[in-house]
Amino acid sequence: MPTLWWQRGAIYQIYPRSFADSDGDGVGDLRGIIDRLDYLVDLKISAIWLSPFYRSPMADFGYDVADHCDVDPIFGTLEDFDRLLAESHERGIKVVVDFVPNHTSSEHPWFVESRASRKNPKRAWYVWRDGRRPNLPPNDWLSSFAAVGRAWSFDNVTGQWYLHSFLPGQPDLDWDNPEVEAAMHDVLRFWCERGVDGFRIDVVHKIAKDPLLRDPLPDEPVTWENWEPTIHERLRRMRAVVDEYPERMLVGEVYLLDLERVLAYVNTGDELHLAHNFVFLHLPWDASAFRSTIDSFEALSSQSAWPAWFLANHDHARVASRFGAKQARAVLLMLYALRGTPFVFQGEELGLPDAEIPPDRVVDVDGRDPERAPIPWRPPSEDGAGAGFTTGRAWLPITPAAEELNAERQAHDPGSTLALARRLADLRMAEPTLQSGEQRSVEGGDDLLAWLRIGDDDRQLLAVVNFAEDERAFHCPPDLRRTARLEISTDPARNHGDFALDDLRLSAAEALIARL
Ligand code: NOJ
Repeated sequence: MPTLWWQRGAIYQIYPRSFADSDGDGVGDLRGIIDRLDYLVDLKISAIWLSPFYRSPMADFGYDVADHCDVDPIFGTLEDFDRLLAESHERGIKVVVDFVPNHTSSEHPWFVESRASRKNPKRAWYVWRDGRRPNLPPNDWLSSFAAVGRAWSFDNVTGQWYLHSFLPGQPDLDWDNPEVEAAMHDVLRFWCERGVDGFRIDVVHKIAKDPLLRDPLPDEPVTWENWEPTIHERLRRMRAVVDEYPERMLVGEVYLLDLERVLAYVNTGDELHLAHNFVFLHLPWDASAFRSTIDSFEALSSQSAWPAWFLANHDHARVASRFGAKQARAVLLMLYALRGTPFVFQGEELGLPDAEIPPDRVVDVDGRDPERAPIPWRPPSEDGAGAGFTTGRAWLPITPAAEELNAERQAHDPGSTLALARRLADLRMAEPTLQSGEQRSVEGGDDLLAWLRIGDDDRQLLAVVNFAEDERAFHCPPDLRRTARLEISTDPARNHGDFALDDLRLSAAEALIARL
């Protein structure tokens, strides 16, 4: 069962502003990432995914791109990027970059031209419309950011409204215009030529819109992107561009809360390689909810579709804060043991909770500062308030848990979450059954999520997660082998060695992998 690079190990998301700051300005940068690459080698990750580092006025902290083909000075230079790429590749780490096709910054030269006059050749690169009446936007579409309100802003110079699915500083490109599509394909080629290995495509489901700009029907709780059937053709053409280069990978942010529709982006094999599954991310901490989502995903998948599992990114509260500290360890085990590619958000391997952001330090329009707080590398008691992230003043407060949860301390503690993450990565890299074995659900009892991974020569690994806050007995189904050897448990108190599956009891929120 051979695997491709993006199937083998975890893909680790780096939010560059908050990973490591090399120059003391309080904001992370590309050189900071280079300095920490060996930490990622120890985590045996397959690839890093870098959130945007392009030129940007930073209204949405880089997701408002003013030049797709250059590095913002706050992060470094293109030469720094080339070095990061080379040093990552030397260490066997692939590099995936964020691709933001739906919108640009309002400071992007394309938009500056577009808004200059109705006759400008770039006018039709963005979505400009007349209002329904004076002071009334073309329709009732709303920005994805609640604080922004409507998705249209009026431009006094040319007397029309422009569409922005996010901030007014992020005008939507008009993908119905073939010139836009061609220009964005050139962006993909630019980075492929430089040597990047893949792209995470920001809000990919939004690049096709209802050409008639209809409002959603009142009795149908669907959003406007549902109207447009052309998304899949656009993705096929995008895929064809990256397929001009060997072994490139596309993972899409398909933010649709409907598994069937998410799978339509990966099932045919000629669109995305992977889709981030937000149905999974939004699940409550409940074994049966996880069970049914995982099983539905498998049932709706085509033979060639490959799952991607993630429960955290820079837009959502951290797992340790949503579900709890022990649960965050169980989640790591789940990500590594499910059939599919694990995506780990920086700091998840440390079990970091969200940081506390006092009102005067809030910088994001949509409440996402807590999960974006910088990584604590060293104990603040030894390294000062910057916790090894910066020698200056960090752009966001560092979590108060930094003294206990910093990377250096955890690296020396065999019971730490970092040590657990390293063991999980070691096991996955050493064990092809975890990378590519078949998967079968196991009924192990209430509050337990259990599954079997079956590899060549009938090698079998059993994973069990206890979702309860107290101990639970595993009810071993009759068709399972009866004896097992523990590979990994999230509970440092569990004994290693052989045990009888009939006697297995999991402690509160414990997760384990055993070889049958
Ligand atoms: C999704 C990104 O993950 C988020 O951070 C950003 O604000 C929006 N897309 C707009 O680009």
